[in-house]
Amino acid sequence: MGRLSPIQDRIRELADEKDVLILAHNYQIPEVQDIADIVGDSLVLAIKATGTPQSTIMFCGVDFMAESAKALSPEKRVIHPVPGSRCPMAHMVDSESLREFRAGYPGVPVVAYINTTAETKAEVDICCTSANAVKVVASLESDKVIFVPDSNLGLYVQSELPDKEIILWPGYCHVHSDITVEQIEALRNEHPEAKVLIHPECTMDVIRMADKVASTEGMITYARESPAREFIIGTEEGLVYRMRKEIPDKAFHPLENAICPNMKKIGIEDVLKALEEMGPTVGLDPEIIERNRPPLERMLSL
Ligand code: 13P
Ligand code: SF4
Repeated sequence: MGRLSPIQDRIRELADEKDVLILAHNYQIPEVQDIADIVGDSLVLAIKATGTPQSTIMFCGVDFMAESAKALSPEKRVIHPVPGSRCPMAHMVDSESLREFRAGYPGVPVVAYINTTAETKAEVDICCTSANAVKVVASLESDKVIFVPDSNLGLYVQSELPDKEIILWPGYCHVHSDITVEQIEALRNEHPEAKVLIHPECTMDVIRMADKVASTEGMITYARESPAREFIIGTEEGLVYRMRKEIPDKAFHPLENAICPNMKKIGIEDVLKALEEMGPTVGLDPEIIERNRPPLERMLSL
């Protein structure tokens, strides 16, 4: 951690004093990333939400991430500083519609992207994140798989696993599906030496332009290990802050208008207030927690 502002110092003091682990997603604003114990993608953060010694987890990310942390560590208090920070894609499928849909495909397993509500996860066989979606679907014996809710990620998995039939749900991430071929082309013309890194929530025509398709954490690992010096970052712009901080000798070119407004709802004052009040906390029905654990744990065991 570099030099912190007085409010950030106070947050760190309180977090240590109150035994709180602060997790932040790669799209959080820089001030929030800087006070987190761990910054990462959905998979890294889900793993870190299990087996940590702290009695409380504060999740600086969108709603489904905080819910998954609660389902994986039900004995812990999980604080979500701004409950209105919600992933719109996660709300494009609900448990009742999914139950009706899957009744049309008897025996076909359902894979839920981690960007789903806890109620939806209670209906599915296994979860995945963008980092392991291909691996999770490949691990299933069935030739047919229902994939919810991200149709773009589902199409990408389909392109990687042509022997499977992926039955899609019509959900999407508005931030990634708005990224266009023309935007990437413009950046490529400006920076012809740069490698193109694309998130699999993008549309297939954008994905086809990639040198590497990866989750946000996968993009950082690739940039660190690659001999290339420059990278075009085909995802939400928040990731670039961490890339520049951790890999200062390389250049990163973000898409300036790829911004998730929900990820930006958590401000540094919200984090301080939530620590002072030790809330708002995530409350999940114990039955929903029980039904969330198998699909999440199946994913983590891979
Ligand atoms: P990852 O960080 O897991 O790649 O997910 C991206 C995302 O859009 C999370 O909401
Ligand atoms: Fe949801 Fe997309 Fe925002 Fe991620 S970037 S939280 S998937 S809307």
